[in-house]
Amino acid sequence: MNQSSMETTKTQLMSPSEIEEMVKTLPQHNVSWLNGLATWCKYQDVWHNQEFLTKEILERQRFEARTSDVFLCSYPKSGTTWLKALAYAIITRKMFDESNTPLLTTMPHKCVPSLERDFEQIRETNRPNVPIATHMPYKSLPESILASNCKIVYIYRNLKDVIVSCYHFATKIRKVPIEDASFEEAFDDFCQGVTLYGPYWDHISGYLKASLERPGMILLLKYEHLKKEPINNVKRLAEFLGYPFTPEEEKEGVIESVVNMCSFENLSNLEINKKVGQRVHGIENRLFFRKAEDGDWRNYFTDKMIEKIDKLIDEKLGDTGLVLK
Ligand code: A3P
Repeated sequence: MNQSSMETTKTQLMSPSEIEEMVKTLPQHNVSWLNGLATWCKYQDVWHNQEFLTKEILERQRFEARTSDVFLCSYPKSGTTWLKALAYAIITRKMFDESNTPLLTTMPHKCVPSLERDFEQIRETNRPNVPIATHMPYKSLPESILASNCKIVYIYRNLKDVIVSCYHFATKIRKVPIEDASFEEAFDDFCQGVTLYGPYWDHISGYLKASLERPGMILLLKYEHLKKEPINNVKRLAEFLGYPFTPEEEKEGVIESVVNMCSFENLSNLEINKKVGQRVHGIENRLFFRKAEDGDWRNYFTDKMIEKIDKLIDEKLGDTGLVLK
Protein backbone atom coordinates (compact mmCIF):
# COMPACT_ATOMS: atom_id res chain seq x y z
CA MET A 1 0.00 0.00 0.00
CA ASN A 2 1.32 3.49 -0.70
CA GLN A 3 1.20 6.22 1.92
CA SER A 4 -2.03 7.88 0.86
CA SER A 5 -3.98 4.66 0.50
CA MET A 6 -2.68 3.56 3.90
CA GLU A 7 -3.77 6.86 5.41
CA THR A 8 -7.25 6.57 3.97
CA THR A 9 -7.79 3.39 5.99
CA LYS A 10 -8.45 5.67 8.98
CA THR A 11 -11.95 4.40 9.65
CA GLN A 12 -11.14 0.70 9.00
CA LEU A 13 -9.16 -0.25 12.12
CA MET A 14 -5.45 -0.82 11.54
CA SER A 15 -3.42 -3.34 13.51
CA PRO A 16 -0.36 -2.14 15.49
CA SER A 17 2.02 -3.57 12.87
CA GLU A 18 0.08 -1.92 10.01
CA ILE A 19 0.24 1.39 11.83
CA GLU A 20 3.95 0.96 12.45
CA GLU A 21 4.56 0.25 8.77
CA MET A 22 2.43 3.21 7.71
CA VAL A 23 4.25 5.58 10.10
CA LYS A 24 7.57 4.63 8.45
CA THR A 25 6.26 5.94 5.12
CA LEU A 26 5.23 9.39 6.42
CA PRO A 27 7.03 12.64 5.56
CA GLN A 28 9.49 13.51 8.30
CA HIS A 29 11.02 16.70 9.63
CA ASN A 30 14.11 16.57 11.80
CA VAL A 31 14.08 19.65 14.01
CA SER A 32 17.38 21.43 13.49
CA TRP A 33 16.92 24.11 16.16
CA LEU A 34 16.56 21.26 18.67
CA ASN A 35 19.95 19.89 17.55
CA GLY A 36 18.11 17.14 15.66
CA LEU A 37 16.83 15.64 18.92
CA ALA A 38 13.22 15.61 17.74
CA THR A 39 11.54 14.32 14.60
CA TRP A 40 8.04 15.31 13.59
CA CYS A 41 6.13 13.34 11.01
CA LYS A 42 3.10 14.34 9.00
CA TYR A 43 0.02 12.18 9.32
CA GLN A 44 -3.27 13.30 7.76
CA ASP A 45 -1.84 16.82 7.27
CA VAL A 46 -0.91 17.21 10.94
CA TRP A 47 2.61 17.11 12.39
CA HIS A 48 3.17 14.63 15.20
CA ASN A 49 6.04 13.54 17.38
CA GLN A 50 7.26 10.41 15.63
CA GLU A 51 8.13 8.82 18.96
CA PHE A 52 4.49 8.60 20.05
CA LEU A 53 2.53 8.45 16.80
CA THR A 54 2.01 4.68 16.44
CA LYS A 55 0.58 4.39 19.94
CA GLU A 56 -1.50 7.53 19.47
CA ILE A 57 -3.16 6.22 16.31
CA LEU A 58 -3.80 2.85 17.90
CA GLU A 59 -5.38 4.34 21.01
CA ARG A 60 -7.36 6.84 18.97
CA GLN A 61 -8.99 3.92 17.19
CA ARG A 62 -9.79 2.16 20.46
CA PHE A 63 -11.10 5.12 22.42
CA GLU A 64 -14.79 5.04 23.31
CA ALA A 65 -16.16 8.40 24.38
CA ARG A 66 -19.11 8.65 26.75
CA THR A 67 -21.78 11.24 25.96
CA SER A 68 -21.04 12.88 29.31
CA ASP A 69 -17.31 13.29 28.54
CA VAL A 70 -16.01 16.82 28.20
CA PHE A 71 -12.82 17.50 26.26
CA LEU A 72 -10.37 20.30 27.02
CA CYS A 73 -8.67 21.03 23.72
CA SER A 74 -5.78 23.30 22.97
CA TYR A 75 -2.81 23.93 20.79
CA PRO A 76 0.30 23.27 22.97
CA LYS A 77 1.35 26.20 25.19
CA SER A 78 -1.97 27.99 24.94
CA GLY A 79 -3.07 27.59 28.57
CA THR A 80 -3.79 23.85 28.87
CA THR A 81 -2.43 23.55 32.41
CA TRP A 82 -4.52 26.49 33.57
CA LEU A 83 -7.68 25.23 31.90
CA LYS A 84 -7.18 21.76 33.39
CA ALA A 85 -6.78 23.21 36.88
CA LEU A 86 -9.85 25.45 36.52
CA ALA A 87 -12.11 22.73 35.13
CA TYR A 88 -10.96 20.29 37.81
CA ALA A 89 -11.46 22.83 40.62
CA ILE A 90 -14.93 23.73 39.32
CA ILE A 91 -16.10 20.13 38.97
CA THR A 92 -14.73 18.88 42.30
CA ARG A 93 -15.56 21.93 44.43
CA LYS A 94 -18.31 20.16 46.41
CA MET A 95 -15.84 17.47 47.44
CA PHE A 96 -12.83 19.66 48.13
CA ASP A 97 -12.05 23.25 48.99
CA GLU A 98 -8.82 25.23 48.76
CA SER A 99 -7.45 23.55 51.91
CA ASN A 100 -7.68 19.97 50.65
CA THR A 101 -8.04 19.98 46.85
CA PRO A 102 -5.79 17.42 45.11
CA LEU A 103 -4.48 20.37 43.06
CA LEU A 104 -2.31 21.22 46.08
CA THR A 105 -0.41 17.97 45.82
CA THR A 106 -1.01 16.75 42.26
CA MET A 107 -0.02 18.42 39.03
CA PRO A 108 -3.07 19.53 36.97
CA HIS A 109 -1.92 17.22 34.16
CA LYS A 110 -2.36 14.28 36.53
CA CYS A 111 -5.75 15.46 37.79
CA VAL A 112 -7.05 15.68 34.21
CA PRO A 113 -5.83 12.87 31.92
CA SER A 114 -4.55 13.34 28.41
CA LEU A 115 -6.06 11.57 25.42
CA GLU A 116 -2.59 11.25 23.88
CA ARG A 117 -0.75 9.87 26.91
CA ASP A 118 -2.96 8.45 29.66
CA PHE A 119 -4.33 5.55 27.65
CA GLU A 120 -5.04 3.15 30.48
CA GLN A 121 -6.75 5.75 32.63
CA ILE A 122 -9.11 6.91 29.88
CA ARG A 123 -9.86 3.43 28.61
CA GLU A 124 -11.57 2.47 31.89
CA THR A 125 -15.32 2.47 31.46
CA ASN A 126 -15.88 3.54 35.06
CA ARG A 127 -13.35 6.35 34.93
CA PRO A 128 -14.14 9.32 37.19
CA ASN A 129 -16.20 12.15 35.79
CA VAL A 130 -13.35 14.55 35.04
CA PRO A 131 -12.63 16.03 31.63
CA ILE A 132 -10.05 14.63 29.22
CA ALA A 133 -7.52 16.92 27.58
CA THR A 134 -6.10 16.78 24.10
CA HIS A 135 -3.87 18.73 21.72
CA MET A 136 -5.30 16.95 18.68
CA PRO A 137 -6.84 19.10 15.98
CA TYR A 138 -10.62 18.80 15.67
CA LYS A 139 -10.44 16.73 12.50
CA SER A 140 -8.15 14.17 14.20
CA LEU A 141 -10.33 13.58 17.25
CA PRO A 142 -11.46 9.97 17.70
CA GLU A 143 -14.68 9.43 15.81
CA SER A 144 -16.55 8.41 18.95
CA ILE A 145 -16.09 11.91 20.43
CA LEU A 146 -17.90 13.48 17.51
CA ALA A 147 -20.46 10.67 17.29
CA SER A 148 -21.26 11.10 21.01
CA ASN A 149 -21.66 14.86 20.52
CA CYS A 150 -19.37 15.52 23.50
CA LYS A 151 -18.84 19.02 24.83
CA ILE A 152 -15.52 20.67 24.05
CA VAL A 153 -13.72 23.62 25.61
CA TYR A 154 -11.04 25.11 23.37
CA ILE A 155 -8.49 27.54 24.78
CA TYR A 156 -6.40 29.67 22.43
CA ARG A 157 -3.79 32.35 22.90
CA ASN A 158 -1.93 35.15 21.15
CA LEU A 159 0.04 33.31 18.50
CA LYS A 160 3.30 35.19 19.09
CA ASP A 161 3.29 34.24 22.77
CA VAL A 162 2.48 30.64 21.80
CA ILE A 163 5.57 30.55 19.55
CA VAL A 164 7.85 31.84 22.32
CA SER A 165 6.36 29.48 24.87
CA CYS A 166 6.71 26.47 22.52
CA TYR A 167 10.33 27.41 21.82
CA HIS A 168 11.27 27.51 25.50
CA PHE A 169 9.36 24.38 26.42
CA ALA A 170 10.80 22.33 23.55
CA THR A 171 14.39 23.35 24.35
CA LYS A 172 13.98 22.68 28.05
CA ILE A 173 12.45 19.23 27.74
CA ARG A 174 15.23 18.19 25.38
CA LYS A 175 17.88 19.93 27.45
CA VAL A 176 19.12 22.00 24.51
CA PRO A 177 20.91 25.09 25.89
CA ILE A 178 18.92 28.15 24.85
CA GLU A 179 22.01 29.75 23.28
CA ASP A 180 22.32 26.74 20.94
CA ALA A 181 18.67 26.85 19.83
CA SER A 182 17.98 29.34 17.06
CA PHE A 183 14.74 31.23 17.70
CA GLU A 184 14.80 32.29 14.07
CA GLU A 185 14.70 28.67 12.90
CA ALA A 186 11.95 27.83 15.37
CA PHE A 187 10.00 30.81 14.05
CA ASP A 188 10.51 29.71 10.43
CA ASP A 189 9.27 26.20 11.21
CA PHE A 190 6.22 27.73 12.83
CA CYS A 191 5.53 29.95 9.83
CA GLN A 192 5.76 26.92 7.57
CA GLY A 193 3.27 25.09 9.77
CA VAL A 194 5.85 22.49 10.78
CA THR A 195 5.12 22.34 14.49
CA LEU A 196 3.63 19.74 16.80
CA TYR A 197 -0.09 19.36 16.12
CA GLY A 198 0.33 22.12 13.55
CA PRO A 199 -0.16 23.97 11.38
CA TYR A 200 -1.44 26.24 14.13
CA TRP A 201 -3.95 27.98 11.82
CA ASP A 202 -5.59 24.70 10.88
CA HIS A 203 -5.86 23.82 14.57
CA ILE A 204 -7.60 27.01 15.59
CA SER A 205 -9.78 27.33 12.51
CA GLY A 206 -10.88 23.68 12.85
CA TYR A 207 -12.27 24.25 16.34
CA LEU A 208 -13.71 27.62 15.39
CA LYS A 209 -15.56 26.13 12.42
CA ALA A 210 -16.82 23.26 14.57
CA SER A 211 -18.11 25.73 17.17
CA LEU A 212 -20.21 27.40 14.47
CA GLU A 213 -21.50 24.07 13.22
CA ARG A 214 -22.29 22.72 16.70
CA PRO A 215 -23.66 25.73 18.58
CA GLY A 216 -23.67 25.37 22.35
CA MET A 217 -21.36 22.35 22.29
CA ILE A 218 -17.99 24.07 21.94
CA LEU A 219 -16.86 26.86 24.24
CA LEU A 220 -13.98 29.01 22.99
CA LEU A 221 -11.91 30.71 25.66
CA LYS A 222 -9.08 33.10 25.05
CA TYR A 223 -6.08 32.96 27.42
CA GLU A 224 -5.77 36.75 27.51
CA HIS A 225 -9.49 37.19 28.25
CA LEU A 226 -9.29 34.65 31.03
CA LYS A 227 -6.47 36.69 32.52
CA LYS A 228 -8.23 40.02 32.14
CA GLU A 229 -11.64 38.90 33.37
CA PRO A 230 -11.16 35.69 35.31
CA ILE A 231 -14.41 35.82 37.29
CA ASN A 232 -16.73 36.19 34.28
CA ASN A 233 -14.88 33.62 32.24
CA VAL A 234 -14.70 31.07 35.07
CA LYS A 235 -18.46 31.55 35.52
CA ARG A 236 -18.97 30.87 31.81
CA LEU A 237 -16.76 27.82 32.03
CA ALA A 238 -18.65 26.43 35.04
CA GLU A 239 -22.01 26.94 33.32
CA PHE A 240 -20.77 25.25 30.17
CA LEU A 241 -19.36 22.30 32.12
CA GLY A 242 -22.75 21.87 33.78
CA TYR A 243 -21.54 22.96 37.24
CA PRO A 244 -22.82 26.55 37.51
CA PHE A 245 -22.07 28.55 40.64
CA THR A 246 -25.14 29.17 42.80
CA PRO A 247 -25.96 32.73 43.96
CA GLU A 248 -24.89 31.65 47.48
CA GLU A 249 -21.54 30.42 46.19
CA GLU A 250 -21.06 33.70 44.35
CA LYS A 251 -21.81 35.63 47.56
CA GLU A 252 -19.42 33.44 49.54
CA GLY A 253 -16.60 34.15 47.07
CA VAL A 254 -16.27 30.58 45.77
CA ILE A 255 -15.48 31.80 42.24
CA GLU A 256 -12.66 33.96 43.60
CA SER A 257 -11.31 30.94 45.53
CA VAL A 258 -11.25 28.84 42.36
CA VAL A 259 -9.55 31.65 40.44
CA ASN A 260 -6.94 32.16 43.17
CA MET A 261 -6.30 28.45 43.62
CA CYS A 262 -5.62 28.04 39.88
CA SER A 263 -3.65 31.24 39.40
CA PHE A 264 -0.15 31.02 37.98
CA GLU A 265 1.23 32.58 41.16
CA ASN A 266 -0.36 29.92 43.33
CA LEU A 267 0.15 26.82 41.19
CA SER A 268 3.71 27.61 40.17
CA ASN A 269 4.73 28.07 43.81
CA LEU A 270 3.35 24.77 45.05
CA GLU A 271 6.03 22.30 46.05
CA ILE A 272 4.66 19.67 43.65
CA ASN A 273 4.96 22.06 40.71
CA LYS A 274 8.38 23.51 41.44
CA LYS A 275 10.39 20.65 42.91
CA VAL A 276 13.03 19.20 40.56
CA GLY A 277 12.33 15.57 39.71
CA GLN A 278 8.51 15.70 39.90
CA ARG A 279 7.31 14.58 36.51
CA VAL A 280 4.24 14.02 34.40
CA HIS A 281 4.43 12.10 31.10
CA GLY A 282 8.20 12.09 31.60
CA ILE A 283 8.39 15.90 31.76
CA GLU A 284 9.32 17.92 34.85
CA ASN A 285 6.18 19.56 36.30
CA ARG A 286 7.99 22.87 36.76
CA LEU A 287 8.52 23.23 33.00
CA PHE A 288 4.80 23.81 32.52
CA PHE A 289 5.15 27.09 34.46
CA ARG A 290 7.40 29.72 32.94
CA LYS A 291 6.36 33.41 32.94
CA ALA A 292 2.67 33.45 31.99
CA GLU A 293 3.10 36.99 30.71
CA ASP A 294 1.12 38.52 27.87
CA GLY A 295 3.43 40.06 25.29
CA ASP A 296 6.67 38.27 26.23
CA TRP A 297 7.06 37.84 22.45
CA ARG A 298 8.25 41.46 22.29
CA ASN A 299 11.55 40.26 23.77
CA TYR A 300 12.10 37.84 20.85
CA PHE A 301 10.54 39.11 17.63
CA THR A 302 12.40 41.35 15.20
CA ASP A 303 10.43 43.87 13.11
CA LYS A 304 10.78 41.54 10.13
CA MET A 305 9.34 38.63 12.09
CA ILE A 306 6.41 40.76 13.29
CA GLU A 307 5.65 41.76 9.73
CA LYS A 308 5.85 38.17 8.48
CA ILE A 309 3.72 36.61 11.19
CA ASP A 310 1.09 39.37 11.10
CA LYS A 311 0.76 38.88 7.35
CA LEU A 312 0.38 35.13 7.83
CA ILE A 313 -2.26 35.60 10.54
CA ASP A 314 -4.21 37.90 8.21
CA GLU A 315 -3.90 35.45 5.35
CA LYS A 316 -4.74 32.28 7.25
CA LEU A 317 -7.09 33.50 9.95
CA GLY A 318 -8.17 36.96 8.87
CA ASP A 319 -11.71 35.83 8.09
CA THR A 320 -12.25 34.17 11.50
CA GLY A 321 -12.68 37.45 13.36
CA LEU A 322 -10.34 36.17 16.09
CA VAL A 323 -7.73 38.60 17.39
CA LEU A 324 -4.47 36.68 17.52
CA LYS A 325 -1.82 39.36 17.06
P1 A3P B 1 4.71 30.93 29.10
O1 A3P B 1 5.68 29.99 28.50
O2 A3P B 1 4.40 32.10 28.22
O3 A3P B 1 5.09 31.36 30.47
P2 A3P B 1 0.31 24.91 28.47
O4 A3P B 1 -0.29 24.79 29.82
O5 A3P B 1 -0.69 24.85 27.35
O6 A3P B 1 1.45 23.99 28.31
O7 A3P B 1 0.87 26.39 28.36
C1 A3P B 1 1.97 26.80 29.12
C2 A3P B 1 1.92 28.30 29.25
O8 A3P B 1 0.89 28.66 30.19
C3 A3P B 1 3.21 28.84 29.82
O9 A3P B 1 3.33 30.15 29.28
C4 A3P B 1 2.92 28.85 31.31
O10 A3P B 1 3.75 29.71 32.05
C5 A3P B 1 1.47 29.32 31.32
N1 A3P B 1 0.72 28.89 32.52
C6 A3P B 1 0.86 27.74 33.23
N2 A3P B 1 -0.01 27.74 34.26
C7 A3P B 1 -0.70 28.88 34.20
C8 A3P B 1 -1.74 29.45 35.01
N3 A3P B 1 -2.20 28.82 36.08
N4 A3P B 1 -2.24 30.66 34.66
C9 A3P B 1 -1.77 31.29 33.55
N5 A3P B 1 -0.78 30.82 32.76
C10 A3P B 1 -0.26 29.63 33.07
